[in-house]
Amino acid sequence: MTADPLARLEELERQADLGGGQARIDKQHEAGKLTARERIAALLDEGSFVELDRFVTHRCADFGMQEQKILGDGVVTGHGTIEGRTVCVFAQDFTVFGGSLSGAYASKICKVMDLAMKIGCPVIGLNDSGGARIQEGVESLAGYADIFTRNVLSSGVVPQISAILGPCAGGAVYSPAITDFILMVEGTSYMFITGPEVIKTVTHEEVTKEALGGARSHASRSGVAHFAEADELACLQRIRELVGFMPANNAEDPPLRASADPVDRADAALDTLVPLDANKPYDMKQLVVGVVDDGHFVEVHKDFAKNIICGLARLGGRPVGIVANQPKHLAGCLDIDASIKAARFVRFCDCFNIPLVTFVDVPGFLPGTTQEFGGIIKHGAKLLYAFTEATVPKVTVITRKAYGGAYDVMASKHIRADINFAFPAAEIAVMGPDGAVNIIYKGQLDKITDEQARAEARTRFIQEYRDNFANPYKAASLGYLDEIIRPRETRAALVRSLKVLANKRQTNPPRKHGNIPL
Ligand code: HXC
Repeated sequence: MTADPLARLEELERQADLGGGQARIDKQHEAGKLTARERIAALLDEGSFVELDRFVTHRCADFGMQEQKILGDGVVTGHGTIEGRTVCVFAQDFTVFGGSLSGAYASKICKVMDLAMKIGCPVIGLNDSGGARIQEGVESLAGYADIFTRNVLSSGVVPQISAILGPCAGGAVYSPAITDFILMVEGTSYMFITGPEVIKTVTHEEVTKEALGGARSHASRSGVAHFAEADELACLQRIRELVGFMPANNAEDPPLRASADPVDRADAALDTLVPLDANKPYDMKQLVVGVVDDGHFVEVHKDFAKNIICGLARLGGRPVGIVANQPKHLAGCLDIDASIKAARFVRFCDCFNIPLVTFVDVPGFLPGTTQEFGGIIKHGAKLLYAFTEATVPKVTVITRKAYGGAYDVMASKHIRADINFAFPAAEIAVMGPDGAVNIIYKGQLDKITDEQARAEARTRFIQEYRDNFANPYKAASLGYLDEIIRPRETRAALVRSLKVLANKRQTNPPRKHGNIPL
């Protein structure tokens, strides 16, 4: 007698849902982690997930593997929606062979990545895996390379987001590394090329797994992770929030979201935020949060290279990428980490048609041998390159200092920013007045023998220099600034500029690709 086909389907589905079995699910929970399916349920709109390839199994016949076939083979793949918008998703299932990647498993991931490219939607990868399936050898390595290839070809076409929710080691780290954003969870996730044991053998350094590759380390020291979240649910929620700022693909504009925040809301407190004393720090985040819709600012790389602020927000309902010097850290100087951080963010925004709003208060590039030997020349050039090649609407506000090369780099008019504003107290010059006077009046000052007379002359020269250059009017007279605005009007000025620029069309010369200084 033939078994009831519906009953058979139900039984197979039940088996597939159990992954590596209840005992391993319990172990996963005991480790403070959700299962692949629980993660997908938390990520997507309720009931929207459509699973594909539920009955795929591995093809390995070595090491007794033919006796151990588990439906789905360690990765749950499919599509669903976030706030009603389609996304493709894969979630590695640690309960099946430690989430390790087989050839069949890689093919499942490639299938959803291909689907995402065909329909033009984001791909979200939830990583929790022991790496290459050791029993499969080179077939597994080939599978990784198939995924890497798709990551590269999808880059800049559809948004790609990676959450690291468990182990991610060896070459497996390179798929997330190519994607637009990496999110980690404190305490349960780690990423490294070689783990503590190998490091100990090779370099005799002792380091814990957490210190080497945990969320804190990657979010604050290496900059590999863009977000470190307290738990998995916060991490999955963050992905939903990020997707809300992004278009489905590079041919779309990012989604508008209406806000009750008045577009012309003036904030008198901003008039006194920037101290008149150019050497006094202030918190640039107050300005950012003060001007964006509902004060909602999603900061990217919050704890890495704090001297520059990057993040997503909306202005008049339009998503924008914000880049801002932070005078509270390193006086807002640009250094290697800040340049790399901001360059990648600018390129992400440009890929996905997200306008750039740049707030400038920059005394220059950070001096020192560490910076020079570390290659600040080529890293700083990345930011210059990224801002220049970006064709999205670019609006810039100079709040105070814009000195030297850093003035050019920070989305100046000269590198194709569309609308450039400055506050009345802005200072745009080759360098600060003290440094400038030390150089251009050195001969004259050295000739004055009386100390008091020399000090008086110095003060006079500084004032003269300040009157000439340490204000926005010279730049405004040359047309390098479009308007001098009162700080309180910043929001209104930005919203109106973005509206004017909404249909901006600009293209770069045809070429295979540029050669950004990597
Ligand atoms: C096959 C694996 C596996 C792997 C884990 N398992 N990793 N099976 N291939 N790579 C299995 C275990 O046998 C075990 O099966 C189950 O998954 C859970 O593993 P445990 O060790 O019990 O879990 P835990 O103590 O949490 O440790 C997790 C772990 C550890 C740290 C990931 O399993 C581990 O070190 N695995 C090996 C990692 C590794 O060296 N991978 C290859 C790296 S090279 P049972 O049946 O007992 O539940 C690589 C190259 C990628 O990935 C190259 C890309 C180009």
